[in-house]
Amino acid sequence: MELKSIILAAGKGTRMKSETPKVLHKIMDKTLLGYVLDNVKNLVTESFVIVGHHAEEVEKFVNENYTSAKTVLQSPQLGTGHAVSMVCPHLENYTGQVIILCGDTPLIKEETLKKFVEYHNSLNSDITVMSTIFDNPTNYGRIIREKDNSLKCIVEEKDATAEQKAVKEVNAGIYCLNWDKIKLAFSQLKSNNAQGEYYLTDIIEWGKTQKLNVNAYILEDNTEIYGINSRVNLAQATKMMNERKLKELMENGVTIVDPSCTWISDDTEIGQDTIIYPSTYLEGKNKIGKDCKIGPFAHFRGGVEVADNVKIGNFVEVKKSKIDSNTNAGHLSYIGDSELGSHVNIGAGTITANFNPLTNIKSKTVLKDKVKIGSNSVLVAPVTVEEGANIAAGTVITKDIKPWSLAITRAPLKVIEGWVKRFIK
Ligand code: UD1
Ligand code: CA
Repeated sequence: MELKSIILAAGKGTRMKSETPKVLHKIMDKTLLGYVLDNVKNLVTESFVIVGHHAEEVEKFVNENYTSAKTVLQSPQLGTGHAVSMVCPHLENYTGQVIILCGDTPLIKEETLKKFVEYHNSLNSDITVMSTIFDNPTNYGRIIREKDNSLKCIVEEKDATAEQKAVKEVNAGIYCLNWDKIKLAFSQLKSNNAQGEYYLTDIIEWGKTQKLNVNAYILEDNTEIYGINSRVNLAQATKMMNERKLKELMENGVTIVDPSCTWISDDTEIGQDTIIYPSTYLEGKNKIGKDCKIGPFAHFRGGVEVADNVKIGNFVEVKKSKIDSNTNAGHLSYIGDSELGSHVNIGAGTITANFNPLTNIKSKTVLKDKVKIGSNSVLVAPVTVEEGANIAAGTVITKDIKPWSLAITRAPLKVIEGWVKRFIK
């Protein structure tokens, strides 16, 4: 059946204490909302993002980065149920399914969402809510079950009795709905609760009164629904995501010398037998081949593609660049907006000067196969160095260099013998 998603992202995020909307805060250079949109995008034909607080910024982000997603304004923000009701006019004649997620839970996996929808289908469910168990369930809505263990309702912390507060099964905030059976609920929700809000969670009880098939899917790994409400949560989520990523990489044959001080974004792919040395920080989207050596102290800023058997050493920063096989950049370099061929050697302290701060224009550096760049050289982009050319140490390259040439800018070396001794006297 067709599946569309609704992502709730209109809330204020007060506890972040920030001018930036909560869902646009980042983990390893990718926004929280970006994670949720990416994790759901392969499962759905369309996503609706509910925006409200700082709506323009969130709309801009979605429109620029996710063309298959639509933003829908919720103003004022009267609760999660009210948020979903904003989509009703867009789905009037829709008869497929809807998955609802929150924009502040970036750790949820695509694989989990897939299993969740499969579970919904396998039970011929009309409403399925994802739940999980927390030893400390504070702040989450509690899942209340009947004596026969079937679902009864969800009670928010603020509305819960002491007995209900003791329940450890909580609402993860992710739902799968058969839209045509449930859409009517959104015009019938009431706000007679502690927060005076229209709760999305009330659809469980509503579904029961309509004799719909209502179920819960219990998620084993509760870290996946870790929600971000504060900077402390943000740091914790970053750490959890990193640990998960490093484990996955090691299981796939990548050596991480010290997982306690290595940071690799979820969107970085790494080939077998590559070694990542300590204090390496790889953010954004990158692809690294097999048998590479990266770090210690290497920094990838995203958009980096590295082929097999490449060495990127200490204090080398790489951004938006393609590096072909058997190429080395061992020490203290900046490689940005560049294309490096194979068997290229980058001497220590080489800089691609890619940015002109007067025009704000970024330009490209192209180094063809077998090019050798001497230490402490500057490549002033746009510039191309053709195959096999050799750039002498300390050279500033300001024009294209022909194949197999030597390029050198150097003031003549002057040696005055005995000068120091004469000076001291
Ligand atoms: C919600 C659930 C709770 C669940 C928890 C899981 C309700 C009533 N409660 O609580 O049962 O355990 O999530 O994390 O649904 N939002 C809007 N518009 C609004 C209000 C909220 O778009 O008017 C968005 C927020 O931006 C956020 C999401 O909905 O992304 C959840 O809202 P939040 O206020 O964080 O709900 P919780 O109290 O966490
Ligand atoms: Ca929340």
